[in-house]
Amino acid sequence: MILLTLMKFSHMSLVRKEIKICMGSSCFSRGNRHTLQAIQQYLTDHQLDRDVILKGNHCFGECSNGPVVKIGSRVYEEVTRVTILEILEKEFGNKPG
Ligand code: FES
Repeated sequence: MILLTLMKFSHMSLVRKEIKICMGSSCFSRGNRHTLQAIQQYLTDHQLDRDVILKGNHCFGECSNGPVVKIGSRVYEEVTRVTILEILEKEFGNKPG
């Protein structure tokens, strides 16, 4: 029983989704400092802190398309603190589709 619980927990940790927010100087100064706060607040409000890994990242080399946020394998460009809420809802909300 304990083994099954551990295996289940282990599986859960493997499916955690990762958000990487660019903290390079261009993205940071163009809005990702505010977007970071919006993401942290969203994860807290939706009790996703344990299921989602949030990491700051160095420049992705896409400055002209920034601010950049990556969620899993998807890359989001020209992200604002408003559009990030729509993106997070699409990625983590319970809405179909
Ligand atoms: S600073 Fe974000 S892509 Fe370069």
